[in-house]
Amino acid sequence: MIGPDARDRATGLFAQQYGEEPRGTWHAPGRVNLIGEHTDYNDGFVLPFAIAAGVTAVAARRRDGMLALASRQAPGEQVTVPLDGLAPGSVPGWAAYPAGVAWALRTAGYPVEGTSLGYDSDLPLGAGLASSAALECATALALTDLHGIVVPRPQLAAIAHRAENDFAGVPTGIMDQSAALLGQAGHALLLDCRSGIGTAVPLDPAPSGLALLVVDTAARHEHAADGYAARRQECEDAARALGVRSLRDITDSSELAGLDPLLARRARHVVTENSRVLTTAGLLRAGQLGRAGPLLTASHASLRDDFEVSWPEADATVAAAIEVGAHGARMTGGGFGGSVLVLVAAEQASEVRAAVAQRFAQAGWAAPQFGTAVPAAGARRIR
Ligand code: GLA
Repeated sequence: MIGPDARDRATGLFAQQYGEEPRGTWHAPGRVNLIGEHTDYNDGFVLPFAIAAGVTAVAARRRDGMLALASRQAPGEQVTVPLDGLAPGSVPGWAAYPAGVAWALRTAGYPVEGTSLGYDSDLPLGAGLASSAALECATALALTDLHGIVVPRPQLAAIAHRAENDFAGVPTGIMDQSAALLGQAGHALLLDCRSGIGTAVPLDPAPSGLALLVVDTAARHEHAADGYAARRQECEDAARALGVRSLRDITDSSELAGLDPLLARRARHVVTENSRVLTTAGLLRAGQLGRAGPLLTASHASLRDDFEVSWPEADATVAAAIEVGAHGARMTGGGFGGSVLVLVAAEQASEVRAAVAQRFAQAGWAAPQFGTAVPAAGARRIR
């Protein structure tokens, strides 16, 4: 449930910035990726779920052909740009994501006109929980609804993704926008990133006595974007060397013999991760989430050793959680800082928290933040 608080805060900001009341409120969630990391841009499989935290947008039409953007998370930085002047690279900072959505909709032929938008978010930035995609998807819903434009959700996800890749210039895959727009309460989304087909798979830990803890390790790395782009390039290089369209086309690690050793490790992560995703989805369908633990931990080891996108606080969190009996744990999101997901018996959750907090204190690291992830509904209009 989106409490009245986020709506009230966004409405208050809107009234203050634009001197009027908004005409609607929309919400798009962040996501936690259960498993399937760095597979989306390799045409592979991912298994994320939407969470309750996210971005709330309020909006109203305006008559001067301008796009106005204001966020409670960027006080004093209202951005007002003519829609006709939008071009990739023309809007810097956080506003590039929502402006990019207006640009991508217009580029696809949809008649987006002047709009004022206000935002509030309860998603931490850089925590690996897809705050940029939530911002894009809340904007996409607000703009289409306000202007009477109907776009099927998978296409809307593609438009939000285009905003991020082509307007903001961040070369991410399609997972986060898909999770935000196609997520369903009590389910994860098994997405085949080649066909674009998404299937809801039951994911409801509580009745089985399980919990999905999210540990925000508080580590943020300045060069995360460069590291991400480098991995993406390595995957493309590996696919080219193997003579396939993408690493999705490799299903057995033995096919990687003969590759340059570094590219072989990167590719092995993708190949083995795709297989772990499909096995995990099968376990969820069979109601056996608890048995997915070792797959999560294996995913982390692969991201740490073969793909090298993990970071010391994440490795320590996974190790501490497993030592005190968690079923499995892994970093979630793009890596180089952010959050770890822990699958644990609900009654053992507090032991995991204590063990992780203690490990951080011993290492002299900033205290981690703990939360529980519950698979929640996807983006929607809330008023
Ligand atoms: C980020 C990107 C996604 C995906 C993950 C890694 O969250 O936005 O597209 O590539 O990293 O799995």
